Amino acid sequence: MSRPVLRTSLCDMLGIEYPIVLAGMGPVAGGISGPVATAPLVAAVSNAGGLGVLGGAGFSPERLREEINHVRSMTDRPFGVDLLLPSNFMGGAASGEMPRDPRELIPAATRAGVRKMAEDLGVEWHELPPPKEAPVPRRAGGGMSDDQMEVVIEEKIAVFASGLGNPAPWVARLKANGTKILSLVGNVKNARRVADAGADIVVAQGTEAGGHTGRIATLALVPQVIDAVYPTPVIAAGGIADGRGVAAALALGAIGVWCGTAFLVSDEANQPETQKQRVLAAGDEDTKITKLYSGKTMRNINNPLIEAWEASGLQPMPMGLQGILIQDLVYSLRKAGREDLLMNAAGQASGLLTKTRPAAEILHDMVAGAAEILGRKLPQTVTAVPES
Ligand SMILES: Cc1cc2nc3c(=O)[nH]c(=O)nc-3n(C[C@H](O)[C@H](O)[C@H](O)COP(=O)(O)O)c2cc1C
Repeated sequence: MSRPVLRTSLCDMLGIEYPIVLAGMGPVAGGISGPVATAPLVAAVSNAGGLGVLGGAGFSPERLREEINHVRSMTDRPFGVDLLLPSNFMGGAASGEMPRDPRELIPAATRAGVRKMAEDLGVEWHELPPPKEAPVPRRAGGGMSDDQMEVVIEEKIAVFASGLGNPAPWVARLKANGTKILSLVGNVKNARRVADAGADIVVAQGTEAGGHTGRIATLALVPQVIDAVYPTPVIAAGGIADGRGVAAALALGAIGVWCGTAFLVSDEANQPETQKQRVLAAGDEDTKITKLYSGKTMRNINNPLIEAWEASGLQPMPMGLQGILIQDLVYSLRKAGREDLLMNAAGQASGLLTKTRPAAEILHDMVAGAAEILGRKLPQTVTAVPES
């Protein structure tokens, strides 16, 4: 059978066959197994004709470099690296001297509230021993991914994607390498900000999306972002998991799609099998947005711990500090075998997914479905009325 044709200007910009990009998904499940989008998934998507993007969040600079080399050993095609560049990382604490035990940065009442939440759910409380040495202080004003960004620049990666925040401080050095910059946003204000900073492509991500997400739905957001940042091109994200979603995104004027949830249940996704099964079991109403796991709004498969956190009235900490706040909670959950309460980021499109299968098959079904819809004549239920 011949391969369907689905080409947009994104294919020419990035040197790929199909305008389908794998979201650079970071770690789930309390970081047990590292990022979801590691070399096998990235290479599978690139080899299938899309653009694989490595989830760099959660990797040390050394591990990131190794993983980049691993991708290069599995494909000759272009691929990208995604990192999170949140503003207000650690509430600024990372720029100064850190206490030996970073838990001292968290108000005692908030820590006690988290412990009570666990105990109310029948989870026995355990605390990690304090670290032997204080964490190495970061540079003044240091961000979450400063050292990993140096690796992206040194390795001359074809595509860089910023999952959170503004890539402005890095734009000149990335562009000097010929790296194309994608920047994820959830509203028009941030879309203008990253386009003005020099992003080559804005990824407009609707609230349907799994992982960190905003408040505006994809159908409303994408055309508003397109209008706001023209002539910068836009990729659509959030809720796109089959050919119908791809066709809809292209009809809105996007030049491609950025998909996470659809590939979460691929064979190559680096995610515990129990978590893939929960995504498969989820219906349209089974995800919820919470700040529990990172301090920023994140869509997850819902669970009783998320419900308890939302009902508790506890104030989330800035990104970085929230991870420190819940580190003993995650440790206790693991010890208790309650992996069902760990972070299981996934989008509203979970309800569309029915089985695990190879990433290439997921991608090719999306392409074939979209090509079929876009090539269709008007369905008989639609009547075109000519102007009189
Ligand atoms: C498990 C998971 C982890 C994610 N981690 C990241 C990440 O580290 N960086 C990032 O830019 N986006 C991350 N995202 C969001 C995706 O980039 C993407 O915007 C989203 O998955 C698109 O919507 P969809 O899930 O409906 O396809 C993650 C999403 C999921 C489901």
